[in-house]
Amino acid sequence: MADNTRRDFIKQSALGTAAMLVYPPSRVLAASDRVRLGMIGAGGRGQELLKQVLEVPNAQLVAIADVYRRRCDEAKQMAPDIQTFDDHRRLLDMKDIDGVIVASPLHIHARHFQDALLAGKHLYSEKTMTWSIAEAEQCLAAAKKSDRVVQIGLQHESSGSLADTRKWIKDGLAGKITQVDSWMSRNTPHGKGQWVRQVPSDCTPQSVNWKAFLSGRPDRPFDAFKFMNWRLYWEFSGGNVTENMVHQIAWIMSALELPEPSAACMSGGVFSEKDGRQVPDTIAVTLEFPTDVVVTWQSTFSNSRYGLGEHLLGTDGTIEHRAGATDMVTGRSAETIRYYPERVNRAQGEELTGQTPNQDHMANWIDCIRTRKTPNAPVEIGYRSAVAAHMANLAYRQKQRLTLQEARAAQPEF
Ligand SMILES: NC(=O)c1ccc[n+]([C@@H]2O[C@H](COP(=O)([O-])OP(=O)(O)OC[C@H]3O[C@@H](n4cnc5c(N)ncnc54)[C@H](O)[C@@H]3O)[C@@H](O)[C@H]2O)c1
Repeated sequence: MADNTRRDFIKQSALGTAAMLVYPPSRVLAASDRVRLGMIGAGGRGQELLKQVLEVPNAQLVAIADVYRRRCDEAKQMAPDIQTFDDHRRLLDMKDIDGVIVASPLHIHARHFQDALLAGKHLYSEKTMTWSIAEAEQCLAAAKKSDRVVQIGLQHESSGSLADTRKWIKDGLAGKITQVDSWMSRNTPHGKGQWVRQVPSDCTPQSVNWKAFLSGRPDRPFDAFKFMNWRLYWEFSGGNVTENMVHQIAWIMSALELPEPSAACMSGGVFSEKDGRQVPDTIAVTLEFPTDVVVTWQSTFSNSRYGLGEHLLGTDGTIEHRAGATDMVTGRSAETIRYYPERVNRAQGEELTGQTPNQDHMANWIDCIRTRKTPNAPVEIGYRSAVAAHMANLAYRQKQRLTLQEARAAQPEF
């Protein structure tokens, strides 16, 4: 079978499978009912999310599944009554769990996403929604087929800055926006690469279910460094594009109601610390949209001066979102969302500062499990932002501009 035909076949079979699957009914919750939750992957992010769940009234974390014993012990210290498993399927077998939070490494998201829905659970899945475009299509189909509440861990979709931006755009204050510049920058001490984690002495084959971590990736002997530092390798990660750009591109796509990009380019390389990582630390992405918009995103791990932000450039005004830039006088970091009129087209326009508070993204999901309303970051924005991120990475790896059609047909490599 020709490569393309084979890929189309695999894609269609996966979609066909999602369409044929039967999703079990879920418990209907009254407003006063306690929402019972489980978590798959309780590492760095999972433990932050665990703290968030503990803050939500009338919600309870009852179980976690993690392949590393240390993470199970840490989670139990935070929530002593929980059950722990080293296999996510045991957790999904629990009939009295309403929803599941997935905070596992990127290459396993699609499996955990689909297994959770098949088990009839509501789902909070960390970003990026999936490791590849084909998986994003499968997960989108699965979510549409089920009636479960799916929230993607794109918490900036619950931000006041997005609410203010949407209102200003809707009110026509920005006019026609044709370009968005965005950036994200960090730094680390010399010789210490961004993201690199030390391997704890208890990270051994005896305390890690390595096969479950690999989850279908080619089998090999236990590698503690890769297990701890999966973010640095294409096989498990999409690098900073799937770690951070995805948050900003989702925010921009929601603000401007953008579809998937029509084409992507990406330049860069491993320039900051040549520590054996595969994913680039210095990046310039250009995304073209069919609605006459170009979005650029730049990122470095060698300088943190300008933090992160977005400039939305319109004929009638500019919307400026900044977070993490260091204030020259106080040295403090502040998040601001501001509007500046373009005098040529809005001579009398006023400068504005957004005041809308952020919503709690986790509480929004749990609330929607009760009300069955659409959460702030539904599967569609998870899908579109994942496609944009993967298009950029594919363009970088193929060293050429890639259209949406070409990216969909491409087979991502390890
Ligand atoms: N929304 C955000 O702001 C935000 C911030 C940080 C990380 N994240 C996302 O959260 C996810 C996890 O990142 P992290 O930094 O917590 O990684 P991590 O390595 O610290 O945690 C991942 C956990 O998953 C466990 N795990 C691995 N394979 C598993 C399997 N098959 N079944 C169950 N558990 C398994 C690991 O043992 C580990 O404890 C990533 O997708 C990342 O992009 C999101």
